[in-house]
Amino acid sequence: MKVRKAVITVAGWGTRFLPITKAQPKEMLPLVDKPLIQYAVEEAVNSGIEQIILVTAMGKQAIEDYFDRSFELEYVLEQKGDVRRLQEIRELSDLVNVCYIRQKEQLGLGHAILTAKDIVGREPFAVFLPDDIVDSKVPVLKQMVEVYEQHKTNVVAVDRVSIQDTTKYGIIEPKKISSHIYQVLSLAEKPEPAQAPSNLGVVGRYILMPQIFDVLEATPPGKNQEIQLTDALQLLLRQQAILAYEFEGVRYDTGTPLGWLEATIAFALKHPDIGHKLREYLRQLL
Ligand code: UTP
Repeated sequence: MKVRKAVITVAGWGTRFLPITKAQPKEMLPLVDKPLIQYAVEEAVNSGIEQIILVTAMGKQAIEDYFDRSFELEYVLEQKGDVRRLQEIRELSDLVNVCYIRQKEQLGLGHAILTAKDIVGREPFAVFLPDDIVDSKVPVLKQMVEVYEQHKTNVVAVDRVSIQDTTKYGIIEPKKISSHIYQVLSLAEKPEPAQAPSNLGVVGRYILMPQIFDVLEATPPGKNQEIQLTDALQLLLRQQAILAYEFEGVRYDTGTPLGWLEATIAFALKHPDIGHKLREYLRQLL
């Protein structure tokens, strides 16, 4: 069955961006000229996703407003004759069919995904953690959908991380199948470098079979008393294969101020309107 739906989890507290996230979702921070969340939504649309399920929480209304229509704003732009901006904001609300569900208690990523169970139904689906933004020719999820179509099983995106960073990721024990594809033999949650089975870290894109919901329901709270997706994937391995796909592209973790700045500079340098001037400015600064 085709991957038609994507769950994007945005219910976390975003503590690494406090105090900003006290009053505004980190997903609405700009990355050059668009909010971070738009990159995930556009990647999903460009990968063939037909419905997006955003798992939100208290304080995230700005995201709903962003993808909704704003007749008042359209009227103002129309009166001003600003056709370009009018078209831009209309396109935004027509981008894709988005529905929202609230995670009432922030009990972890696994729990956030479980919140979307009834809307997803019994079909394979994608999961996006929108902090991970990948600059690539072919959208990462589209690359993963191809792997899914060939193998019809769970696919997680992996990236090579530096060995001292294994403590920040779920790390896979891989068995190589082909140049970019590995079979996951086991998963270790944030291991110390000496214990890490590889340096392939799971990052924020997944294609999951619906059985993950049954497994998540049976997964006990793990680290920080949260229902951890990594724990559920480890349990899922008992009944289904999980493939790891080393995608083509450069990943930025925009969930930290430094990662966000790196992504901002990298994307801005490539931007046709401002890239050239920014390069000059950075040269002067250095
Ligand atoms: P993170 O671990 O990055 O947490 O969540 P966070 O809240 O976004 O940021 P920090 O660590 O406090 O700075 C990984 C993903 O899981 C979602 C987050 O929104 C993010 O997409 N998440 C996490 C939920 O949706 N619900 C939760 O209860 C926890």
